Amino acid sequence: MDVRFDAADVTKLPAQAVVLPVAARDGKPVLTQAGMAFDAMLEGGLLEALQEAQFSGKTAETLTLPTFRCLAARRLVAAGVGDLDRFEAEAFTRAVGAAAQAARSAGATEIVVALPDGDWGLDTAAAIEAGAIGARLGLYRFDAYRGAAAPSSVKSREVETVTFIDEAVAPEAAGRALDRAAATARAVDLARDLGNEPASVLTPETLADRAAVVAREAGLQVEILGPEELAAIGANATLAVGGGSAHPPRMIRLRYEPEGSSEGRPVPGLVGKAITFDTGGYSIKPYEGMLEMKGDMAGGAAVLGAMSALRDLGCRVPVEATICAAENMISGTAFRPGDVLTGMNGVTMEILSTDAEGRLVLADGLVDTARRGATELIDLATLTGAAVVALGNGATALFASDDRLADALLEAAGETGERMWRMPLFPELEEQIEGEVGDIKNTGGRAGGAITGALFLQHFREGLPWAHLDIAPASRQSKATATGPKGATGVGVRTLLRYLTELGTSTEA
Ligand code: BES
Ligand code: MN
Ligand code: ZN
Repeated sequence: MDVRFDAADVTKLPAQAVVLPVAARDGKPVLTQAGMAFDAMLEGGLLEALQEAQFSGKTAETLTLPTFRCLAARRLVAAGVGDLDRFEAEAFTRAVGAAAQAARSAGATEIVVALPDGDWGLDTAAAIEAGAIGARLGLYRFDAYRGAAAPSSVKSREVETVTFIDEAVAPEAAGRALDRAAATARAVDLARDLGNEPASVLTPETLADRAAVVAREAGLQVEILGPEELAAIGANATLAVGGGSAHPPRMIRLRYEPEGSSEGRPVPGLVGKAITFDTGGYSIKPYEGMLEMKGDMAGGAAVLGAMSALRDLGCRVPVEATICAAENMISGTAFRPGDVLTGMNGVTMEILSTDAEGRLVLADGLVDTARRGATELIDLATLTGAAVVALGNGATALFASDDRLADALLEAAGETGERMWRMPLFPELEEQIEGEVGDIKNTGGRAGGAITGALFLQHFREGLPWAHLDIAPASRQSKATATGPKGATGVGVRTLLRYLTELGTSTEA
């Protein structure tokens, strides 16, 4: 799909579909200048149609209207951007995503998008970037496995071009915005593709192969550790979790180095849980719980996605990353409840449940990343069902040892529209994971399950500022939204990219 910019008068363009942003004020639609020009050409018919359909302009609400040859455009797609007084990039992303989907469903393959008015509070280049991200994410599909009998619901033709139109934007600024959007959306789509791939295809070794290809294309250093190397560094927890699988584990180390000197800069360290399939092991999951466990590698996928775009987005700080890949299966070589594992930092872990495997591989990943020179750690993991119970679907649970890191991540998440909520690390709950035989137990019971998962990980932060993103509630969605279809969401990628590209730009470094 080609996403571009054209300096033109949108009211005169022949187009299969023109997307028109519509804001809300007191529950009533507010048009842009271009929208008002369309309305005048239709003798007030546009506002009338919106009113008749009770279109309020709330974010990502859409209404597709035929133009009956009264305009050069065949249809208009009104795209709600929400309250005019609180209009932000994130709303335009969702509005364009939803409108692009509506235009595609109506059969359009070439879509034109009119920009919001300058006085709506969003700078034009920022609007182009946000809108282009919305179009790309909204139109994402995973159809690698669609065959001759694909259901008709997915048969609408692919959109070929999305063109953002404005009469007064510098083409260079527009071009830069489009490039940034493409890099960001490519990163999210990579994470989605990995999350949607069946576990029979995406194993620890094929994930490592993919990471090596991505690293080469994205200018990253990469090092892949297999069972022997894992044994040599004492990554016993990773070996135990992957021990039952015919597909042995991998630790994938990546490093991004910015141009120029990185002396004195912070070195964020990203750690991603990549369980390519989680059966639960001998603490086996019930049928429903296992259904979507091909997606239990979403944390690792988000880390790889973010790393893939750092050079294109001009990130100014070095970044270390570790993807902890293993498959949690059952066999004669699998680990068991009652086993005790020694972590790389000497902390011993007593296994109560083989289904609490994510924290085990992350323990190795966190220590390894700290030893490679990270100055702060951020892990992403589909860690607990308890986070889903606590926050509901769609939000990421944030735990952090450090307010600066927490606030920066919350701000980055807010700017992208990825929902994130900070959770506590109550020290009183530590006693729930005190070991009987070893130092700590890998489960703390039902109460505060997301918190005790985070408290477990905290034993491996090696004194560094650390944040843990439990993405279990947000890594997959059960129905389509403005930013994508059912399935893997690629959550975390946009927040990480925001956070990392803002580091070292101001007083931070
Ligand atoms: N991968 C699961 C968590 C999960 C649940 C992710 C639902 C996505 C959706 C994780 O490995 C797990 O099984 N966690 C256990 C932990 C418990 C045994 C302490 C859980 O949440 O039940
Ligand atoms: Mn599990
Ligand atoms: Zn898991």
